[in-house]
Amino acid sequence: MSIYILGIESSCDDTSAAILKDTTVLANVTANQDVHRKYGGVVPELASRAHQQNIIPVIDQAFQQAKLDKKMISAIAFTRGPGLLGSLLVGVSFSKALAIGLNVPLIEVDHIKAHILAHFAQQKDNQKEVPEFPFLCLVVSGGHTQIVLVKDYNDMQIIGKTIDDAAGETFDKAAKIMDLGYPGGPLIDKLAKLGNPNAFKFAKPKIQAYDYSFSGLKTSFLYFLRDHLKEDPQFIEKNVNDLSASLQKTIIDILMEKLIKAAQDTGITSIAVAGGVSANSALRNAINELNNKFNWKVFIPEFEFTTDNAAMIATAGYFKYLSNDFTDQKAKPYSRGI
Ligand code: KG4
Ligand code: ZN
Repeated sequence: MSIYILGIESSCDDTSAAILKDTTVLANVTANQDVHRKYGGVVPELASRAHQQNIIPVIDQAFQQAKLDKKMISAIAFTRGPGLLGSLLVGVSFSKALAIGLNVPLIEVDHIKAHILAHFAQQKDNQKEVPEFPFLCLVVSGGHTQIVLVKDYNDMQIIGKTIDDAAGETFDKAAKIMDLGYPGGPLIDKLAKLGNPNAFKFAKPKIQAYDYSFSGLKTSFLYFLRDHLKEDPQFIEKNVNDLSASLQKTIIDILMEKLIKAAQDTGITSIAVAGGVSANSALRNAINELNNKFNWKVFIPEFEFTTDNAAMIATAGYFKYLSNDFTDQKAKPYSRGI
């Protein structure tokens, strides 16, 4: 018998609902919040209010797209954390209420693990190859940068992480410094295609083992611009493509160096990437290169499953459903990673 999971994601500024039949995505509907754009970053209070407005239409649309009656749902999987507490509360409270209404069990999902498990979500008409265990996953999002050793669907170990800023945050802050807009990642990605990645050099951090650090890069980028702007107030406008390409290359070099080291040390040659920054075209190329250069097997998510989405939450929920891992009405959101 098939299992139908409704997934609900509201950890940051995307309200998303998805319906899965086992691991097949029947619907994955996301409402983005434009309201934050003019502030150059997510405003938590505004995000919570927008989730409150979006959540019912998004869920209704998901059921319509899936052509499924709500009574068919086997369980509701929701993001419990990490994320913005006010945002999480909307999804968590809504899931609890709907679970009572439909008389179905609840499954709590960790947002970061869900980004990884998005690799197991299948499109209706295009079944892809999925990673075999164990594999290494580079998780790069707005709030996290980690290398995770994935031993099983519900057994993961973080072997490296950022000690300060995340990779996505670095893209966003650099874009803010250059006054490009928000979110910065996709904008820098686009401009970088027109620039020379070797035009400018930025120092790379020296951090132990598989850990990362991006705050030094952010500061050196800021000081670099400040110094050049003193001599030429148009420095950014004149060099925006080269600046984007050079910064992007530095971020990717830092990410890849540790990932390659982790793979060589552990002997694990199945490599995946996940999270919002995995939408970056140069990072996708660099991961693909691992296949050409080392003959490693690489897994790059479809664009739909890179940035925040509920299909990944429902997928993680499905594997917890199979192992009878349910939660109850007492579940509280958590803001920081575990
Ligand atoms: O996973 P995600 O949607 O949300 C979090 O869980 O944080 O990731 C959002 C992050 C933002 O920092 C955004 O700038 C970055 O992913 N991002 C990108 C690209 N698309 C999104 N960064 C670089 N290149 C992109 N194409
Ligand atoms: Zn995310």
